[in-house]
Amino acid sequence: MRKTLLVANWKMNKTCQEAAAFAEKFLPEVAGLDGVDLVICPPFTCILSMNGSLSSSQVALGAQNMFWTDRGAYTGEIGPSMLIDVGCRYVILGHSERRQILGETDVNINRKVKAALEAELIPILCVGETLQERDNQLALEVVKEQLTRDLKDISLQGDAIVMAYEPVWAIGTGVNASREDAREMITFIRNHLEKMYDRELAQKVRILYGGSVNEDNIADFLAEDDIDGALVGGASLQAASFAKIAKAGING
Ligand code: PGA
Repeated sequence: MRKTLLVANWKMNKTCQEAAAFAEKFLPEVAGLDGVDLVICPPFTCILSMNGSLSSSQVALGAQNMFWTDRGAYTGEIGPSMLIDVGCRYVILGHSERRQILGETDVNINRKVKAALEAELIPILCVGETLQERDNQLALEVVKEQLTRDLKDISLQGDAIVMAYEPVWAIGTGVNASREDAREMITFIRNHLEKMYDRELAQKVRILYGGSVNEDNIADFLAEDDIDGALVGGASLQAASFAKIAKAGING
């Protein structure tokens, strides 16, 4: 019922030229692959040129962050309508690198989710615990708090948002969560959405796993009914490996 979604998060990698070279290799590999939704989130600087490269493909574009209003005196920020203007449909919000390195708070993430929904961008809202929190048996509590705060006072339609469970200890470390741990948390997130909203909505929202996903472990995650796709960092930088991940989505 929920279509598999695979999202490339390039983080702070690739010049426009490198992004174009990726598209040239990647697009022929995934041409006609319509059983899966694919999204690429390049750095801001090459979203516009990637919009050109992807225009005749089924691959959608996303941003990795945004500000919560459209214009004004906010030096260095990018607003929702600017993202729409350059062809974005999705925006990653609340990534742990932004929470931890840039000091992003749940209050501001909540503002961003609201603004994205108002602009009809699809937020990919990331939540997840640190290793210390997991070791202290706090993982469920931490994720529940993030969900409650990030979605505070937000009314939702089922497919207007995507969630991503990204345990901080699994991001960029090569140590992925086990399939069971990922399933357990994703089911927990779905149940919590059901409590915050209703069952129908919770059944419609796509919930991804992210953290050291690669072409060798993707099938394992997608074999779980409750895991609807993946947010992929390192392994999305090479066209060949992200194409293999995309193809695994067909069977997921
Ligand atoms: P990774 O990153 O796949 O390199 O672990 C995932 C993410 O941060 O979204």
